[in-house]
Amino acid sequence: MLIHRLLSELSIAFLTGAGYAGASVLYDLPAPPFIQVPYTVAAFELPTAVTTNGTAFVNTSAIKSETGCQPVSVQMTETSPGTWTNTASFNECSIIWNVVNTTDTLFGINIPSCQSSSPPQFSSVVFWFFSYIPTAQASATFCDPSMSLWEVNAAVDIRTGNITAVSEIRPFSSSSNFSSFSANVTGPPLNGRAYNGIQFNLTNPDQFVLGRQNATQLQLPASIYQAAIKTPQGFIGSFQNNTLTALADQVYGLYLSLVAREVYFLGDDEDINVQIKTFQQRVWLGDVAVHLLAAAMIILAIFATIVHLFHIEDRRFLRLKHEPGTIASAVSIGAQTGVGEVLAGRQDPDDIKEALRNKRFRIDPIAMKIFMEGEKGYETAAVPTSPMYRRRSVLELLQRPRPTKSQSGTSVPSSPSSPKEPPKSA
Ligand SMILES: *[C@@H]1O[C@H](CO)[C@@H](O)[C@H](O)[C@H]1NC(C)=O
Ligand SMILES: *[C@@H]1O[C@H](CO)[C@@H](O)[C@H](O)[C@H]1NC(C)=O
Ligand SMILES: *[C@@H]1O[C@H](CO)[C@@H](O)[C@H](O)[C@H]1NC(C)=O
Ligand SMILES: *[C@@H]1O[C@H](CO)[C@@H](O)[C@H](O)[C@H]1NC(C)=O
Ligand SMILES: *[C@@H]1O[C@H](CO)[C@@H](O)[C@H](O)[C@H]1NC(C)=O
Ligand SMILES: *[C@@H]1O[C@H](CO)[C@@H](O)[C@H](O)[C@H]1NC(C)=O
Ligand SMILES: *[C@@H]1O[C@H](CO)[C@@H](O)[C@H](O)[C@H]1NC(C)=O
Ligand SMILES: *[C@@H]1O[C@H](CO)[C@@H](O)[C@H](O)[C@H]1NC(C)=O
Ligand SMILES: *[C@@H]1O[C@H](CO)[C@@H](O)[C@H](O)[C@H]1NC(C)=O
Repeated sequence: MLIHRLLSELSIAFLTGAGYAGASVLYDLPAPPFIQVPYTVAAFELPTAVTTNGTAFVNTSAIKSETGCQPVSVQMTETSPGTWTNTASFNECSIIWNVVNTTDTLFGINIPSCQSSSPPQFSSVVFWFFSYIPTAQASATFCDPSMSLWEVNAAVDIRTGNITAVSEIRPFSSSSNFSSFSANVTGPPLNGRAYNGIQFNLTNPDQFVLGRQNATQLQLPASIYQAAIKTPQGFIGSFQNNTLTALADQVYGLYLSLVAREVYFLGDDEDINVQIKTFQQRVWLGDVAVHLLAAAMIILAIFATIVHLFHIEDRRFLRLKHEPGTIASAVSIGAQTGVGEVLAGRQDPDDIKEALRNKRFRIDPIAMKIFMEGEKGYETAAVPTSPMYRRRSVLELLQRPRPTKSQSGTSVPSSPSSPKEPPKSA
């Protein structure tokens, strides 16, 4: 932190800063990197080599710029038709400005005259606005800019350099890191005072420097005026409830933070500690695997739908009263029926198959019981429609060639116990 450039050179930085601050309120631009109004954090090299998606936490020094803006009531006197003399005063400082009705809207920024005179570059400033519409009305905002140095913990988004959080640790002191560079700011020539960015102590200024100073002085109130036009109540309504003061505070606050970055900081090549918080993916899915799985699921869904459509006709009369597939469900449908008796005591799959061979079954949807052909109730159970017969016969045809084993099994029914007979060995 050192004043190392001439103010005449810095007037360019002031002018562009005023442009940015004005545009930011008009177009909702975010603050530039390393600035979060009212803090201007000492810039450092972002650890983009480590990660680009994360936050860097760093203990560093920052300048807190405060505007000290206050609305002040204006005494308006009409000296002659259309000519007004306006007076406003605050804290031993006062300002007088005259307006003529050559134009409807007037605005400007001035240095008030104060009893305890301070150099113009550190003086307080006044934003004033005047409108002849609908009747003559005036607004004045006194701003007393100040700055303080702080040790802060700043969180910086590594990709953009945006400040996401600033917390003050303690006021900057001679024991702080980098305090050896702060002499010009805390001591002479600044002595801790903040530049107002409006007036400069220029020795033998040329016309270009003066032009920049003039432009800076017009830029700030002009963008406040533009922003006031865009508010719901418009420029005329902005005189009522200090909207112009709120806008002046917003624009001037960002302007001071930008000025701080240009004026009070000094390039330095030293190491600082940076803590990085980044994101790490814990669960991830490969693109190929995801696409293959999705394709398989879609095919499965299509086939399941086709099978369902195919079987709608077959299921027409089958109204199950509970979800099938459990032992309880099977027992409830099959208990105390002819099927139950036929299957009782059989465990071997071939044995079961043989027992059911050439038998026909129906489920009575009212009794929820299985009836075997020939049993009482089989005929009254719903008669399947012809397509179902056809389809079943197709299924039977398909099944028939497969069980070649069951043909050899026709002679088996009586034999299950025979292999288990212990060899009658002596
Ligand atoms: C950064 O990480 C977050 C959280 O994991 C993620 O949402 C975001 O998309 C990432 N951004 C970039 C640019 O990688
Ligand atoms: C910043 O200072 C605080 C305490 O003052 C400490 O807890 C923290 O670890 C420091 N952070 C870094 C990045 O040095
Ligand atoms: C200024 O106001 C006076 C009185 O209302 C009026 O006579 C005069 O025409 C106005 N001048 C302009 C330039 O509007
Ligand atoms: C203005 O600057 C000159 C030299 O650049 C210096 O001698 C003078 O004291 C300064 N005036 C104020 C009011 O700071
Ligand atoms: C961060 O910076 C980017 C571009 O620099 C900007 O678009 C974005 O709005 C900023 N975010 C915040 C929260 O300031
Ligand atoms: C800033 O301070 C240094 C000493 O730390 C001094 O040599 C230098 O002249 C000062 N710069 C200005 C512009 O006063
Ligand atoms: C700056 O503005 C003043 C009036 O405020 C004017 O007298 C002066 O000529 C202007 N200077 C330049 C270089 O435009
Ligand atoms: C001023 O009043 C208008 C309504 O009249 C309201 O929308 C606006 O938010 C007010 N502004 C402030 C700064 O109070
Ligand atoms: C000053 O810097 C050193 C080295 O980077 C660091 O260890 C120390 O914590 C810093 N002190 C403060 C108060 O930030």
